[in-house]
Amino acid sequence: MIALRSSHEIELLAESGRLAEDCMQMLMGLVEEGISTWEIDREAEHYIRSHGAVPSCKGYGDPSNPFPATLCTSLNDEIVHGIPSKKRILKAGDILKIDLVLSYHGYVADMARTLPVGDISEEKRLLAERTRECFQKALEVMVPGKRLGDIGYAVQSHAESFGYGVVRELTGHGVGTDLHEDPEVPNYGIAGRGLRLREGMVIAVEPMINMGDRRVTFSPDGWTVKTRDGAPSAHYENTVAITADGPRILTRSGDRL
Ligand code: MF3
Ligand code: CO
Repeated sequence: MIALRSSHEIELLAESGRLAEDCMQMLMGLVEEGISTWEIDREAEHYIRSHGAVPSCKGYGDPSNPFPATLCTSLNDEIVHGIPSKKRILKAGDILKIDLVLSYHGYVADMARTLPVGDISEEKRLLAERTRECFQKALEVMVPGKRLGDIGYAVQSHAESFGYGVVRELTGHGVGTDLHEDPEVPNYGIAGRGLRLREGMVIAVEPMINMGDRRVTFSPDGWTVKTRDGAPSAHYENTVAITADGPRILTRSGDRL
């Protein structure tokens, strides 16, 4: 079932989104050589709880192996859903994907950024920049009457024009009172096909783009998804409302992020 959100609910989602972006901004200041992903996660959890919100990823998933942390922290060839760890110390040249989900007054915000640690290679910098561009291309078609296939096509065609691989095993999704709501939002597709976008739909669009081959492996920890070929991957995500006036990004204000 696809929920259509009232303008009041969209304002509540935007409040959650503002808290998420403020938290992400704070975390960006911590990302430097020598810090562990566990320390970054601890700061995120403290920030979220002290603002009266709840970290939605913590405890998420199958009760036999729930996600154990606030953030997903994924380094280099890890695509998404990496688990923060005291043993994962950032070093110059790394790219770190931080995926942040919180719930505030019952409404969820979901966002991710790919962040450089110190100086990174030109090819990693371009990968991250172009992954963000994939999101921007998708945004252009996020208007009532367009279709999910238009979003997928926008992301896929931009990424593949650079020879990158588009991850297919994971998708974007609806966001509302739950983290993962209908519909699924693939990062590949055929323009003009698929579900029609409607005013009031709120979706997380999250291109996951590999420098090399698109294929993935799932790690034994039950969470971390990596590139099969070991090449780096980038991720960029915002929660977006479809409105009559066009797309409204709920997890970004201005050009700060
Ligand atoms: N943005 C991620 C997603 O949509 C958040 C995952 S939280 C986790 O999949 F708990 F599932 F890891
Ligand atoms: Co998401």
